[in-house]
Amino acid sequence: MAESMRGLKRTCRCAELTAEHIGQTVTVMGWVQKSRNKGGIVFVDLRDRSGIIQLIFEESTAGTEGFEKATRLRSEFVAAVTGEVTKRSGAVNENLSTGEIEIVARDIRILSESETPPFPIEENSKTRDEVRLKYRYLDLRRPDLQRNLILRSEVAAEMRQFLTEEGFLEIETPMLNKSTPEGARDYLVPSRVHPGSFYALPQSPQLFKQLLMCSGYDRYFQIARCFRDEDLRADRQPEFTQLDMELSFVDMDDVIDVNERLLQRIFKKVGVELALPLPRMTWQEAMDRFGSDKPDTRFGMELVDVSEVVKDCGFGVFTGAIENGGSVRGINAEGQGAMPRKKIDRLVDFAKDFGAKGLAYLCVNEDGTYKSSFAKFMTEEELAALVSAMNGKPGDLLLFAADKNKVVWDVLGNLRLELARQLELLDKNTYEFLWVTEFPLLEYNEELGRYQAMHHPFTMPMEEDLPYLASEPEKVRAQAYDIVLNGTELGGGSIRIHQNDVQEKMFEALGFSKEAAYEQFGFLLQAFQYGVPPHAGLAYGLDRMIMLMAKEDSIRDVIAFPKVKDASCLMTEAPGPVDETQLEELGIEVSAQTGTEE
Ligand code: AMO
Ligand code: AMP
Repeated sequence: MAESMRGLKRTCRCAELTAEHIGQTVTVMGWVQKSRNKGGIVFVDLRDRSGIIQLIFEESTAGTEGFEKATRLRSEFVAAVTGEVTKRSGAVNENLSTGEIEIVARDIRILSESETPPFPIEENSKTRDEVRLKYRYLDLRRPDLQRNLILRSEVAAEMRQFLTEEGFLEIETPMLNKSTPEGARDYLVPSRVHPGSFYALPQSPQLFKQLLMCSGYDRYFQIARCFRDEDLRADRQPEFTQLDMELSFVDMDDVIDVNERLLQRIFKKVGVELALPLPRMTWQEAMDRFGSDKPDTRFGMELVDVSEVVKDCGFGVFTGAIENGGSVRGINAEGQGAMPRKKIDRLVDFAKDFGAKGLAYLCVNEDGTYKSSFAKFMTEEELAALVSAMNGKPGDLLLFAADKNKVVWDVLGNLRLELARQLELLDKNTYEFLWVTEFPLLEYNEELGRYQAMHHPFTMPMEEDLPYLASEPEKVRAQAYDIVLNGTELGGGSIRIHQNDVQEKMFEALGFSKEAAYEQFGFLLQAFQYGVPPHAGLAYGLDRMIMLMAKEDSIRDVIAFPKVKDASCLMTEAPGPVDETQLEELGIEVSAQTGTEE
């Protein structure tokens, strides 16, 4: 039977106690981690979010009733215990911050009993994710998750403090919005009052924060929930949190400066000292050297363009790709020349998953001969020139992709990461930040048959590229920047277009008529008619940032109640069907429930 806590006050959390408290009478409240009855003496580990403290129950100190209650304690019972802090009678537990002390219990109340939990509440749980997520409220009791969520709260507080000191205002923007088709798929919310009409949940506060600049708030931030109906990955959730900001009367260096100082301040929380300024790299350089616009610069294995070297060689795969306007590039997996054929074949399959037609390899043997999938098509001189261009030494494994640049970059960029994973080159204790700048403004979408904004349609082109916007749109670079950490896109932003003529040209390049643009973004374009300051901004993925700070592999581990791969919640079983009456009110008829996607 649960007892009342009336008249009782908790004096501190379990692990806030230290040797300094010896001799004091305290009251702690928490969950029973474990209890051991050694006959005549009961040892209990009591846990709360601060950690664990050992309690000792003996009849002489806790009384007959207290002792009897202690013998009834089971895992996850909630108890309140009053007693005296003493030096540990047994051996000191080096693994606990409270390992030198214990509480000799005088009084105990069992506040709540517990059924046997479906899995033990312990660090580094081996329990399957599905089970842990179904009982997320129990999973969240585990110290690793508690540490992550506490870190998340502290980082958010630090962000608020820093930005407030820097003159930013925290302003909320609406959740129920108009759908705008650019970007990812929207989550829609049907309107009851306007049957057949829908709100869209925000993919980001982008348009509203720009409007706030028009309204003169000059420095805005928000810790904003965003929703995107896209495929889930380890670093993607359908609803996630951004630290979003926008600034007026600034250029890119101003935005980068305040953000570098913000990053420096918050990473201090996890003991990481950032040396400023952070490195910067253009998009073109990132692609050429790393095959990625979010390069992981913790290790080398950079891409080498060997097109010039092989353009006249005898290997048709190479020359063909170059003739088709593509390139041949390689990476040198140093010291991997003895990799077994089977393992190389797996790399070839990996490359094919990223659109490669094949992956040509060449091992430089210790005796200077080659083991290769294409050496037979090339002369000794051609091979020697290729190996030299790749800086290949005996014992190295050279891997080549030949295709359109986009494919080659994607294949080798991902292969480079895969090799780094296999060779364990990805050190979680290293934090390599990088600004990537000068992104292409537009990318051609084959499906839509038109150009699409790489960031969003309000991103400012680089001024020197403006003349190409109509004639050669793919040549135009954007005043956009991403902040990358260890190969993860932590955040991104841009200088915005605030000139009507540039905005019109941008819409033309995107294939929007003026009417269509007004239909979708009219309120913003109209606002720009009434005096708009030059402005720019940036948004971080807060979940991703905490994931990297906490050295976790999945953003699920830093979100209290995350969704799984199919965007469902295993605990609440959302999404779920709704009452017929609810649908009727909304004027919605569900036509087919196939349960399959698309
Ligand atoms: P962007 O679309 O790049 O920019 O988003 C900003 C950052 O949000 C994070 N992010 C995600 N995190 C978890 N799950 C997702 N599904 C997800 N999608 C994005 C990433 C990303 O870098 N309005 C612009 C910003 C601006 O221009 O100011 C925007 O939303 O870390
Ligand atoms: P093949 O002549 O098709 O047997 O190819 C010889 C070698 O070239 C094999 O190792 C293939 O995997 C590789 N290869 C084929 N197409 C490509 C390509 N587009 N880029 C790189 N290597 C390729």
